[in-house]
Amino acid sequence: MKIKFAFFDAKPYDKPSFEKFGAEQGVQFKYFETKLTEDTVDLAHGFDGVCVFVNDTVNAAVIDRLCEMGVKIVALRCAGFNNVDMKHAKGRIHVVRVPAYSPYAVAEHTMALLLTSIRRIHKAYIRTRDFNFSLSGMTGFDLHGKTVGIIGTGRIGRVFVDICRGFGMKVLAYDKYPSDELRGREGVRYAPLDELFESSDIISLHCPLTEETYHIIDDKAIDKCKRGVVILNTSRGALVDAEALLAGIKSRKVGAACLDVYEEESEFFFEDFSGHILEDDVLARLISMPNVIVSSHQAFLTEEALSNIAETTVNNIVDIINNGQCPNELCFNCGVTEDCKDGKCF
Ligand code: NAI
Repeated sequence: MKIKFAFFDAKPYDKPSFEKFGAEQGVQFKYFETKLTEDTVDLAHGFDGVCVFVNDTVNAAVIDRLCEMGVKIVALRCAGFNNVDMKHAKGRIHVVRVPAYSPYAVAEHTMALLLTSIRRIHKAYIRTRDFNFSLSGMTGFDLHGKTVGIIGTGRIGRVFVDICRGFGMKVLAYDKYPSDELRGREGVRYAPLDELFESSDIISLHCPLTEETYHIIDDKAIDKCKRGVVILNTSRGALVDAEALLAGIKSRKVGAACLDVYEEESEFFFEDFSGHILEDDVLARLISMPNVIVSSHQAFLTEEALSNIAETTVNNIVDIINNGQCPNELCFNCGVTEDCKDGKCF
């Protein structure tokens, strides 16, 4: 018998890989363009599970309704799970995720944003298309010799460390659980957060969104930073207090910002609002700044990552259905996933 899954927030680029791996393992997906919310959860009626992404809502009310309808699995097709009420899910419904699909995709996109910003590639592209070959206002700076502060040295953070070292940058790292492998590497040093803020020319966020990391970049953090600091966020929007960032940019304290994620992105990202008036004044003002680049949560979007996401998600589903457990289940017997450090994950 086929395993049936309701696939929320479906986009055309999701389908080919999910169809391929689903067909191989007997998992049938029904694609819904809508996001999973309290209003749409009933679409999951009759399915074994739901497959969701970063901006779907899996709060207590949604979990309760899924359980009432006999839905047994929430399969996240992403690494982060801040949109799932894990405390409520525990013991009620299985929650599986894709812990790693391509750390390179995200780390490389982070460097692409940084280079675009500081070498004004976004400006050059528009200027030369208009046959404007002037160089005024295009002066950038070398990355070589600069200090990058990397917050979160997990899979993506470590790849970004390597990329930055390749550019001859010095790395100051901060992590709640520092990596032994990185410690002692030439050009890399773990430092307290305050020192990282005070000494970094560029700060890049690669930690998960938790209660501890919420607004890790706020007005106090920005006050401590060097004048002209470049802030990169390809992790989760709410790591940065967007209003504080905007104030920092207006006061010229922040030299540039590159954001692949935004605190209130679920309202807008992944959709076409080009014919509409953007209701979010902070986002609109940030986008209007010449030194801010926003991409709409696309750091993960490579062919390799999409294929890995689909393959792992289908394997996760089949593991749970056949064996009742899966190595990528969140908080399964606390301690199985890497997030369950010290058994105190949630
Ligand atoms: P990971 O779990 O391998 O690494 C996260 C690191 O953050 C770990 O070393 C952990 O110890 C550290 N950390 C946890 N709490 C911390 C705290 N309070 N302060 C400092 N560090 C802390 O995760 P991975 O795969 O490197 O992903 C990092 C984040 O990137 C994800 O949580 C997700 O939010 C984001 N992401 C964004 C994507 C995009 O398309 N923009 C795609 C994939 C992930």
